[in-house]
Amino acid sequence: MKILKVELPVNSYEICIGACVKNAGNFFKDRGIESKILIITDSNVGKLYGKTLSDCLTDAGYSAAIAEIPAGEEHKSLFTVENLYNVCLKNNLNRDSLIVALGGGVVGDISGFAAATFMRGIQYVQMPTTLLAQVDASVGGKTGVNLKESKNLIGSFHQPLLVYTDISVLKTLKKREFASGLAEVIKCGLIGDPEFFDFLLNNLKKVIELEPETVSHVVYECCRFKKGIIEKDEKEQGIRAVLNFGHTIGHAIEAVTEYRKYMHGEAVSLGIVCASRISNKLGLLDGKIVESIENLLIDAGLPVRHSLNTDKVIERLIYDKKVKDGNVRFVLLNGGIGKTIMVGTVSSDLIKDILLEVKQ
Ligand SMILES: NC(=O)c1ccc[n+]([C@@H]2O[C@H](COP(=O)([O-])OP(=O)(O)OC[C@H]3O[C@@H](n4cnc5c(N)ncnc54)[C@H](O)[C@@H]3O)[C@@H](O)[C@H]2O)c1
Ligand SMILES: [Zn+2]
Repeated sequence: MKILKVELPVNSYEICIGACVKNAGNFFKDRGIESKILIITDSNVGKLYGKTLSDCLTDAGYSAAIAEIPAGEEHKSLFTVENLYNVCLKNNLNRDSLIVALGGGVVGDISGFAAATFMRGIQYVQMPTTLLAQVDASVGGKTGVNLKESKNLIGSFHQPLLVYTDISVLKTLKKREFASGLAEVIKCGLIGDPEFFDFLLNNLKKVIELEPETVSHVVYECCRFKKGIIEKDEKEQGIRAVLNFGHTIGHAIEAVTEYRKYMHGEAVSLGIVCASRISNKLGLLDGKIVESIENLLIDAGLPVRHSLNTDKVIERLIYDKKVKDGNVRFVLLNGGIGKTIMVGTVSSDLIKDILLEVKQ
């Protein structure tokens, strides 16, 4: 098992990569956890790993109940959170209780938000089961839910007590879901480290085939990069915004399609294509790099062309929380892989041109 430590002024925590769901009970005990536990999972993950987790927690002496929410981004809502509060009450959770989020980014975000707000905040453990959640969503303490108008509009920063990552559960993910996670992995390579981007260019096949060492390296590198950013800017007052590369247009696309047409990573893939092309149009990025980025996304099984109404996407951008003084703020690449810049004044005409350029 590889362990990274996120060092924060308060609430530092470990990310344990290569842990096993079935060993969680003993691991929690070793870490001195004594709380009553509510496992929150979704209808897919619950069937696959819910019992393994609840049995191992019970075997280790914990009182562990399980709450299952319906799977899918459309259930990342206040309605689901309200139901969860009721489950918390029914199970007599108190301020010392612990929520364990067993699932993808949706379960992680919603469980984290329920934990942040139930009785003004209780602790939670992230047990991410999608690639996307293992490389990104489980780390950093951003929790929340969607409103119909915009994604992640309601939320809170609430760092987990622990991130406990079992890579072997990725084998039951559908191809499309795995690819969705690769979008965040590629994002990490683009904004983080040219060496890691090259590693992805050379090893993508091994990642897709779930070669354990390679997947473990990818999860570790992405978490290491994100941890470094969060340690500098826990609450996104500055540098953490670079993690939104590809997300400005990505989020708008998700909202326009009511979170149904694209998975998060697929929308981010389209957002990465647009942000890279905008960088190129502004003279910040070589066209050849844009091409290699698009090819890597295609090889990962991600969409690089859309068939959406471009005006609707632009309308949605104005709801985006990155809008400042009427201008759309973008994270762009500036001079090559790993070099980012925040640009506050990308015109809607340019965005429209690019969206039309990448229309099917
Ligand atoms: N908090 C953050 O910093 C952050 C960062 C990135 C993304 N996110 C959020 O994460 C969400 C997307 O996460 P996601 O892509 O993991 O989606 P998801 O949670 O909806 O999971 C995708 C699908 O895979 C299923 N699944 C999960 N694990 C499985 C497994 N091991 N085997 C079989 N099926 C499994 C789920 O039931 C679901 O149907 C979005 O809401 C996004 O906003 C949050
Ligand atoms: Zn994302």
